[in-house]
Amino acid sequence: MRNGGNDTIFSSMIVLKLPEEIEKMRASNHIVAEILNRLKEKVRPGVTTGELDMCSEELVRKKGAVPAFKGYMGYPNSLCISVNSEVVHGIPSNRVLDAGDIVSLDFGAYYKGYYGDAAITVPVGDVSKEAARLIRVTERGLYDGIREARAGNRLGDISAAVQMRVETAGFSVVRDFVGHGIGKKLHEEPQIPNYGIKGRGIELKTGMVLAIEPMVNEGTYRVKVTDNCWTVVTEDGKLSAHFEHSIAITKDGPDILSRMN
Ligand code: MF3
Ligand code: CO
Repeated sequence: MRNGGNDTIFSSMIVLKLPEEIEKMRASNHIVAEILNRLKEKVRPGVTTGELDMCSEELVRKKGAVPAFKGYMGYPNSLCISVNSEVVHGIPSNRVLDAGDIVSLDFGAYYKGYYGDAAITVPVGDVSKEAARLIRVTERGLYDGIREARAGNRLGDISAAVQMRVETAGFSVVRDFVGHGIGKKLHEEPQIPNYGIKGRGIELKTGMVLAIEPMVNEGTYRVKVTDNCWTVVTEDGKLSAHFEHSIAITKDGPDILSRMN
């Protein structure tokens, strides 16, 4: 979601979830994870982004769930599919995927009153070493962030961990878009930047459910929104990758609700 600045400092509307709500959110996120797994298998040279979108909608409805993004703020499709220099919110079309592309699949589902949200970036056929490294580092950044998502830590611990992994590898984290709380709404407080300072920010509490979603660029962190008013691309045209999990903070630490296996 778009970075709205320092909003969270001035309010404390973070909705804590009960264990039984977390189980419902596990169900929503399980649907998301299963669909991303299925889509991943369909990604190959020759497939169009529109075909992947149609497939995602068919699968989610078969589960008795609703595609979370379709109609959200007027978004036209079920899946966000962002290729190469597209960062997030790529709109499915008749674009054909080629070997060497990297493609980010971001999918959300609404099921029994709760949202699930996750994203992966996958290679199309063989990709360059640098593209493969970008994908790997972005996923590791996500897991570094998740590891910090425990009660008593601060929001900045998550942000700083992601940023450290990414920048140590020579890549950059997107600033204009952030992760978010998730629950009965797709976007809840707090906003979760992928850059920040350890020890800063709100205290993390048991019952928080967070969608952590690093967007990582090969070159500059600067991005721009294209003419369709949705698709975000890197300013320098270099590659971008995106991974996202929805996680619950439990008394035993982070619980990845959108785990893929
Ligand atoms: N994971 C993205 C986000 O949380 C997907 C939103 S797409 C939208 O911002 F269409 F729903 F906006
Ligand atoms: Co999200």
